[in-house]
Amino acid sequence: MPILVHVDELEPGMRLKRAIVRDKQVMLSCNKPLEDWQINSLRRRFPDLTVQICDPILDEFVEFQDDSRDHEVSATVNRQMARLMHKVREILSTKTALEGPDISGLQRSVAEVMQYIMENPATAAVLTRFGNAGDYLQSHVGNVFYISLLVGNTIRDYIFRERQRTVRTEAACIRYSMNLTPLALGCLFHDVGMLPIEHLYQKKEPLTEEECQMIRNHPSVGVGMLPKRLDAVAKMVVRTHHENMDGSGYPQGLPKESLHVFSRVIRAADALDAGTSRHVYKKAKSAARVLWEMSNGPLKDHYDPPIVKILMALIQPFPIGARIKLACGRYGVVVRHNRKYPFRPTIVVAFDELGRKLKKRDLEPPIDLSKTDEVQLVEFDGDDLTCLKEGSDNGVWGAAETAPDTKEGLFSYSYP
Ligand SMILES: [Fe+2]
Ligand SMILES: [Fe+2]
Repeated sequence: MPILVHVDELEPGMRLKRAIVRDKQVMLSCNKPLEDWQINSLRRRFPDLTVQICDPILDEFVEFQDDSRDHEVSATVNRQMARLMHKVREILSTKTALEGPDISGLQRSVAEVMQYIMENPATAAVLTRFGNAGDYLQSHVGNVFYISLLVGNTIRDYIFRERQRTVRTEAACIRYSMNLTPLALGCLFHDVGMLPIEHLYQKKEPLTEEECQMIRNHPSVGVGMLPKRLDAVAKMVVRTHHENMDGSGYPQGLPKESLHVFSRVIRAADALDAGTSRHVYKKAKSAARVLWEMSNGPLKDHYDPPIVKILMALIQPFPIGARIKLACGRYGVVVRHNRKYPFRPTIVVAFDELGRKLKKRDLEPPIDLSKTDEVQLVEFDGDDLTCLKEGSDNGVWGAAETAPDTKEGLFSYSYP
């Protein structure tokens, strides 16, 4: 069974549940006791990494959901997109804008990744973090691409099912064809306008007004860096990926009536990935916390509710093996994801109030949180979860938070 731990919590003798692979090379294989030097090397190279370690006692006691396929698909998409972003960077290191011939190969590769995602639908999708803080944009683009395409494919199926339900004649019930290629290309290029100012991601001091303005301009700057012949809808996706449903977005502050469904999809995917990534100005939040903020937090009006709902059903708010603090003070470990009620996974109480592992004889059967209101989640990975209130119908809706009144708002919620 996998318990999720941060690299700082690793101890000699622990065994990895999954091998650590980088650039198709196995860096550390699984199921072998970790040694001191291996742990130190991991901490040095990947200070943000979390890994799954084996726990033979729990493994014997309960059957954990196997999400290794979801991890593999997400990592594969991320690797392929990292390769494409590397190419984009390389081309733009010698000129200020991409030209027609530059993108032919990229378009072919994007089509292949789209096909791969179609053929490997997610059970409970995870985001991939390779753990190197310097590569933010690379993994961000990979995750935004993956999430957007997952949502895009789901919307397509949703529309098809609706047509099946409402249209009587078989002839009229043809598969609705929604071409997702412009969305995919838009995702690949969405932050190309950040490349010339990428150093701002690493800036520790507060941004100046001029720098904030440069960030607000990155969608328009990005469009100017794309070739004339690129699909107009793909360019529109790039230009509008920070426009909000309540008209408060940038660069144009468009109202929701003007926002294409693809703009709404990428806006939500972008916020989810940026919110769950570590930035120099803020720590990474858990997917659970960010999904809750997007559905019920102070700036929920930025996002399209049906799309956020789809995201919640697709993405694991709590990874399998995550340790969550309960209201009673003890810790539960996530055993199974609940697609219908995503904030109510099945857990097994496995640690006492002091964080010590319970002995086998003290373990009790797993608890399906969708069937009880008696167990409350209060904290996960440093995030306050008391917002997921007891007794709510769907385990999602809690009390609305107050909007932050600081100027930090732009970057704490409307991530660049
Ligand atoms: Fe982005
Ligand atoms: Fe952006």
